[in-house]
Amino acid sequence: MIRTIEWTEAGVVRLLDQTRLPEEETYVECRDAAAVASAIRRMQVRGAPAIGVAAAMGLALGARQIRAEAFDPYFAELSRIAGDLAATRPTAVNLTWALTRMKQVALKHRDLPIAGITTRLEEEARTMWAEDLKANQAIGRHGEPLLPAGARVLTHCNAGALATVGYGTALGVVRAAHALGKGIRVLADETRPFLQGARLTAWELHREGIPVTLVTDGMPAALMARGAVDLVLVGADRIARNGDVANKIGTYGLALACRAHGLPFYVAAPLSTLDPTLPTGAAIPIEERSPEEVTTLAGRRIAPAGVPALHPAFDVTPAEYVTAIITERGVARPPYSASLAALLGAGPDR
Ligand code: MRU
Repeated sequence: MIRTIEWTEAGVVRLLDQTRLPEEETYVECRDAAAVASAIRRMQVRGAPAIGVAAAMGLALGARQIRAEAFDPYFAELSRIAGDLAATRPTAVNLTWALTRMKQVALKHRDLPIAGITTRLEEEARTMWAEDLKANQAIGRHGEPLLPAGARVLTHCNAGALATVGYGTALGVVRAAHALGKGIRVLADETRPFLQGARLTAWELHREGIPVTLVTDGMPAALMARGAVDLVLVGADRIARNGDVANKIGTYGLALACRAHGLPFYVAAPLSTLDPTLPTGAAIPIEERSPEEVTTLAGRRIAPAGVPALHPAFDVTPAEYVTAIITERGVARPPYSASLAALLGAGPDR
């Protein structure tokens, strides 16, 4: 299994450096919260569920270094560190979800000695790791029946093992169908400008023998018109209560193209990606990244000097274009305000 994130026996957080793939399989070792925050900001670890778990582990590392003897100053410092981790990337709600959960654990154990609270935080971060893997496997089980035998599945960005602690969300569904011998073939958008599709999705599927063909971001509508795509399946960074979905920039265009060609547009995500505080996607914060990531490619300038570039890293697909949302507790169908609420209240994963 691909080890995207690991809490080592030495108590170090080890991250597979995704900026170096596919050329090199190297790891970043983080010994404090600042190192984890930097790895998230630099996208050495990326993908909504993965950055949630990495941030939780980062907060556990940070907790170890707090020199306070009473709970209140301890918690104030813990909250400050959590704030720094949360500020690294604004769109994926899994980040704040994970950090809020960690702070709640500290509050719950406030009567323990400080060292005991810190131990509980480490345990909680490791529990989140295990839960994420389990959730992805359940997403795979629930989503696999939506993929017909022989389906040609177009995906965008990387919602795979590399975007989670393992197995993946959208690619978890692909893995589950592949394991059943359904003959699934994946078309991976290259996903400019960071090339998550070309560098990461292609890498993780190819090394497992899951058939994958790389396409540029401009090709999908034409491929659909030719009858070369059966469905689109993507992950999500934040889902509003009404089912509006924030995901990698370019996702919305795919949903529109699916509608025009009568194809299903599926989203796979754990319920930790659902933001129940937002009624619609209008208030989802969209991360603006450096224009340099657009004007350069693999470190080389590709646009004339002085030409500005835009770089919103995510877009929001309105719920009306989403055929279904696959979660670890089952598949939600429109109207999402009812179906997602029902899944959230549905208790333990099946
Ligand atoms: O900027 P990234 O690479 O973190 O963006 C990742 C995506 O858009 C993924 O589709 C999303 O986080 C879901 S990952 C299971």
